[in-house]
Amino acid sequence: MTDALLALRPWEEPEITSWRRLPMNAVDRRSGALPLDGDWRFQLLPAPDAPVGGAWSSSYVPGAWTMQDTDDRPQYTNVRMPYTEYPPQSPAANPTGLYEREVDVPVAWAGQRVVLQVGAAESVLLVHVDGRPVGVSKDSHLAAEFDLSRVVRPGQRATVRLTVVKWSDASHIEDQDQWWHGGITRSVLLYATDPLHLADVTVRARAAGEVRVDCRVRDTGGALPAGWYVSGELDGRPLVQDEEFDRAGAEDERVSDFLGEARILATVPDVRPWTAETPELYDLTVRLHRPDGAVADTSRHRVGFRDVEIAGRDLLINGERVYIRGVNRHDFHPLTGRTVSCDDMRADLVLLKRFGFNAIRTSHYPNDPALYDLADELGFYVVDEADIEAHDHAHEIADDPRYLNAFVDRVSRMVLRDKNHPSVIVWSLGNESDYGANHDAAAGWVRRHDPTRPVQYEGAAKLDWAATDDASDIACPMYAPIEDCVAHALSGRQTRPLIQCEYSHAMGNSNGTLADHWAAIESTPGLQGGFIWEFWDHGILQRVSDGRPAGRAGAGLYADGVAAPGHRWAYGGDFGEAVHDGAFVADGVVFPDRTPKPALYEHREIAAPVRIECLRHEGIVLGNHQHFRGLDWLAGEWELSLADGRTLTAPAELPDLSPGETAAVPLPFALPRDGGEAWLTLRVTTAGDEPWAPRGTEICVPQVRLRGPAAREVVAVDRRVEVDGDGLLVHPLLASAPTLSLWRAPTDNDELGGIAPRWRAWGLDALVRKPVSVRCDGARVTAVAEYAGRVGVVRHVQVFTPVEGGLRVEESAELPEEFDDVARVGSVFETVAGLDLLEWFGQGPWESYPDRSTGAPVGHHRLAVDELFTPYLRPQESGGRHGVRRFTLSASGATGLAVELDEPRQVSVTRHRDADLTAAAHHDELVPRAGCVVHIDAAHRGVGTASCGPDTSPAYRIPPGVHRWSWTLSVL
Ligand code: GAL
Ligand code: MG
Repeated sequence: MTDALLALRPWEEPEITSWRRLPMNAVDRRSGALPLDGDWRFQLLPAPDAPVGGAWSSSYVPGAWTMQDTDDRPQYTNVRMPYTEYPPQSPAANPTGLYEREVDVPVAWAGQRVVLQVGAAESVLLVHVDGRPVGVSKDSHLAAEFDLSRVVRPGQRATVRLTVVKWSDASHIEDQDQWWHGGITRSVLLYATDPLHLADVTVRARAAGEVRVDCRVRDTGGALPAGWYVSGELDGRPLVQDEEFDRAGAEDERVSDFLGEARILATVPDVRPWTAETPELYDLTVRLHRPDGAVADTSRHRVGFRDVEIAGRDLLINGERVYIRGVNRHDFHPLTGRTVSCDDMRADLVLLKRFGFNAIRTSHYPNDPALYDLADELGFYVVDEADIEAHDHAHEIADDPRYLNAFVDRVSRMVLRDKNHPSVIVWSLGNESDYGANHDAAAGWVRRHDPTRPVQYEGAAKLDWAATDDASDIACPMYAPIEDCVAHALSGRQTRPLIQCEYSHAMGNSNGTLADHWAAIESTPGLQGGFIWEFWDHGILQRVSDGRPAGRAGAGLYADGVAAPGHRWAYGGDFGEAVHDGAFVADGVVFPDRTPKPALYEHREIAAPVRIECLRHEGIVLGNHQHFRGLDWLAGEWELSLADGRTLTAPAELPDLSPGETAAVPLPFALPRDGGEAWLTLRVTTAGDEPWAPRGTEICVPQVRLRGPAAREVVAVDRRVEVDGDGLLVHPLLASAPTLSLWRAPTDNDELGGIAPRWRAWGLDALVRKPVSVRCDGARVTAVAEYAGRVGVVRHVQVFTPVEGGLRVEESAELPEEFDDVARVGSVFETVAGLDLLEWFGQGPWESYPDRSTGAPVGHHRLAVDELFTPYLRPQESGGRHGVRRFTLSASGATGLAVELDEPRQVSVTRHRDADLTAAAHHDELVPRAGCVVHIDAAHRGVGTASCGPDTSPAYRIPPGVHRWSWTLSVL
């Protein structure tokens, strides 16, 4: 006999968004529920209608089967669908998982309403209990609930079967840029309620202290009993049902399922408002009573009192125009794919707080419900995004009436689930799905249902940022050039806030010009921030031996961003997929194990709550750059770094400043007369324990220069310089002589932005050096060489002069006109083995580049050479340090070499030649060299963000013409 649900073939019917699924609601059902997580019997069928009857194995719930030991592996595509079938069709090969287990329904649940909740299933869920059809659901990132009261008996055992079909009509609107998975990715549970129950609770709390709680009540046992009522308790204060109690009685036939409504209204005096900086929450308990007062149902909520409004072109939180320092976050884990634990999410948010973020866009679907609780608690503004991305077939689907239900269903279910979270400040209709009537339908629903929050949709607003009649209340472009944003804000045409939904693409070594973005934002009224793309590098931990995902067994097999030996971070193509989009899935500010990339320090400094300036008359001026908090939660320490090697410290007293205020503070040191260049740094840490940072956690390190460098005297001496017949320097500590380098191992931005292909066309990756002349002039030796590319020749001159304490190298390179945008101009040499410690005076300690150096203060830094390198998933230029004035490379402070630079330069010291990095596709393929590869650059191209978005600005590019630099090499 054909099964009724299978016979519907819901996987190819976009109009069927669900069958017998309960309406979404915000009632908290966690307490008293029976968790059904754990091992389920499992079979993977080749297609939904394939005969069942194979062997059962087991699968862990929650978890994607693609991350467990099945032959259906993860596959990564960005825009394109992984198959050619047009919407709403799916491929014939359509992996379908059968999950089965027995459930003992507690005897105590007799007379109760029993509900099954499946947290998330990709992409179609069919539910059977004891072989009987129960329901169908789509919408892969929201829960589905089914009333089992009629199919299970308390005290008895029931067999629950969940059939999950991987590909469906819905996949065409779940075409987000991420791995494709199949399975049940969030928890499954069973709970019971009284037949008289809270069907939904809506809480609206305003910053002025008003709170309104709307309750919807049903009775599945019969008519609503006359005389039921609701009550509440807010942080222990009793709340009573409002006078305007309004109930649709059982006799009113227009109201289905015996629906009632009741409202609580109250005003809390002296309320502590909620903001991302001050996430004040109150505990609310809502109770539904039978006429005799007995409690039939209870729901618990955490309430934040806050207002969101758009006034002109400003988005206001509690009346304040706040900067949105956001990030796009996917639910991701390197071992479990899309299944994330509460602890993991807390770790994500804690890290984001520590690096100055205050906002999250839940790209591109409603995230795990716990994420919103954490955002309420830790303090984030959330743009909550519905699970709609029709990227590959956007144009057709946006206006396809067959998908209308799905659009409204997905947006409305998200709103119904998340409406009570103070953290959620904006609803997003989805991502990259063109713009059509289906969006307007969804926007209409939201605007009517929740007038307390704006709606945004990039696809609508991009047609005209200044429009006033589309589905978006915010202009939320992606990757708009800084100049375009500024021009719009200055045009006089701006009608709504401009907050980029995605900007500064973090793929590989990236996020160049982030500081320039923020300089523009902070100086241009009408610009309010944006969301960096994105939080995660989605590398999946993979066993190299058999190519399978390591899965949960891989716990702990990684550290500091690097996979353990025998493992690697897999990206697109690594699971043998024919159709994939490579490393584009690795574009986050953290590695797959959440290790921060250096770009995060840039963001931290840009977001600094405390800033200092050095002004001619006032001296040191300190400012509070927060919106709502004073500085009392912060402590400071002054640090004075002098070029002569000294670092002086003194405790700092942070003044009592309101948000936006500044004050002059006394200079904590008498600046020593000698000592050369001097930098004053304020190390700001948490003064006490914050929920996201223990006392003493570094928050920012603002810095000002107090004195420029002193002129240095170089005294020539009469000593021999050894140079070989080709004019190459011979030195006991150098394994290879300094030669000219114009190339770097292309970053993802260089490759995808079309920059590296030009370099290759010019032949910069394989310049051929031809010695031209070697001339001795007393002790001084001048070596001239030509470096020929495929087009263009560069003349390189090195003058070696013995000086007191070492050897001075003066260099020049003359770039022909055709080399109008090279990677670098500088010298590269290799050292003998054993020099494993780098100490430098310059910017650091983390990696920095010319267009990403705001977060790296000048100071005296020291790191083991192996720690200098950043292990970007696809090896590329890495490990650079900007603004280096001098460095030593030694065997732990003993013997070694010292280099003094003519001016602050870009320097890198790694174990890898550029060619080694370029040849490797994964970090585990790199074999570190024993010696060091040292680059000293007269100029180094900015890293930009051209893998998706603007390239670096012209100021960070290298023009043709003559470049000169010099340095002094000595032996320690
Ligand atoms: C955007 C898109 C994101 C991601 C990003 C590039 O266009 O919304 O999902 O694909 O580009 O990494
Ligand atoms: Mg996309």
